[in-house]
Amino acid sequence: MSQLVDLVIFGGTGDLSTRKLLPALYQLHRHGLAERLGRIIATGRGEIDSAAFREEAHGNLRHYLADHHWDEAIWTRFRDSLHYVKVDADHDEDYTSLAACLDEDSAPIRLYYLATLPSLYGTICQHLERAGAVNDKSRVVMEKPIGHDLKSCQAINEEVATVFAEESTFRIDHYLGKETVQNLLAVRFGNPLLHPVWKNTFVDNVQITVAEEIGVEGRGSYYAKTGALRDMVQNHLLQVLSIVAMEPPASLDASDIRDEKVKVLRCLQPITASNVKDCTVRGIYAAGAVGGEAVKGFLEEAEYKDAEGTETFVAIKATINNWRWAGVPFYLRTGKRLSRRYSEIVIEFKKQPFSLFANDPNELTNKLVIRLQPDETITMHTLNKKPGLTRNLRLQPVELHLTDDRSDKDDSYDAYERLLLDAINGDQTLFMRRDEVETAWRWIDTIIEAWEETGMAVKSYNSGTMGPNASTALTARDDRSWYE
Ligand code: BG6
Repeated sequence: MSQLVDLVIFGGTGDLSTRKLLPALYQLHRHGLAERLGRIIATGRGEIDSAAFREEAHGNLRHYLADHHWDEAIWTRFRDSLHYVKVDADHDEDYTSLAACLDEDSAPIRLYYLATLPSLYGTICQHLERAGAVNDKSRVVMEKPIGHDLKSCQAINEEVATVFAEESTFRIDHYLGKETVQNLLAVRFGNPLLHPVWKNTFVDNVQITVAEEIGVEGRGSYYAKTGALRDMVQNHLLQVLSIVAMEPPASLDASDIRDEKVKVLRCLQPITASNVKDCTVRGIYAAGAVGGEAVKGFLEEAEYKDAEGTETFVAIKATINNWRWAGVPFYLRTGKRLSRRYSEIVIEFKKQPFSLFANDPNELTNKLVIRLQPDETITMHTLNKKPGLTRNLRLQPVELHLTDDRSDKDDSYDAYERLLLDAINGDQTLFMRRDEVETAWRWIDTIIEAWEETGMAVKSYNSGTMGPNASTALTARDDRSWYE
């Protein structure tokens, strides 16, 4: 019989907990997957009690969950598992109360979820240890961003490591919990057809786009100091890139997969002052219209004095220096207030060496398009004959849909639901290992240094477009274009 897990959420009344964690935990109950989940103890600085927390959770869940996901009987069970303890991260005595609460009805395993400011992660872990609330079965989950650069990331990892071993440390990147990211592993390593062509002899370029319609929302002060490169590329885009580019792992075990991912990150060619202007684009959104609605520019919205130098859009031409990928550009782009919300990986295969057909040769490529959101689809773009009696044979695109239509789209699993379940079960496969995060920061830091050294400008783009014109130029310089 698997052991029960008590989950303690630091930042339990914060935005992430309210919008993502509590709804995902409720869904675990609803999907019948919560048998190992014991109590959920939210902590925060507010002077509230468990009854008030439950009431607030009820309102928030009704707001964030679809109506047809609501089930009174599930809620009652879920509600009874919710508790609240006031904890101020720096106050020793608060941890004593938390330890007392944990001891009252203790499950054998304790899972601490850190959803606070990353600068508090080390402090919280050390306080927990001093209060006797950590044993060799305890685990910790850390939300991103883990640090602001390599140095701060190492400092956090170092502090946390004094309390939790690496095998008990779960660094979350919710992109790894998305269904299609995992399907990518299945498609890549399950189809003998794709295996021989997944390399530089056949692939022309790879594109990874994470486009958002939303602006910085209420997170302007965090975002002004962070920017898109740190907020999105350091983690989500590089994680996706490493899964696209990794070698076949020895097995599907966490360490085998993570060994291969980190090798890819190590092979990323540094972007330095000598090529940063050719290989990167920085943008900041100005006013415009998204989804038919007028929106303000970032600087008007946020009113932060350092925000002028902050990019809300970034595009990068990355190069992976290894045998499989040498010579294949990986174009990455992400931004806020773009024309529509979608995340997509495009593997564009090379053209035929010579075209027999009347088409523009640029039309004649095969592409594998892996859509992570809003819809989860995998489509192979192939070519066949355009029907008709014309003398000049022309080709037309035909899409092969590799998506399983039988899955119940209406009740798909949210990334947080999957990752919380994995953390409860102690499976680290979809979590980032320390060396992965630090290697990613090393590459990102070099870009930031190059931006500073060259005084690289942040170009304005209108909200509702796909970023600055320079982004189009980035691929056009190589005689390629973004797949739209
Ligand atoms: C977060 C970033 O990690 O990911 C946000 O901090 C971003 O800025 C979010 O909006 C995007 O996640 P998703 O799942 O909506 O694509």
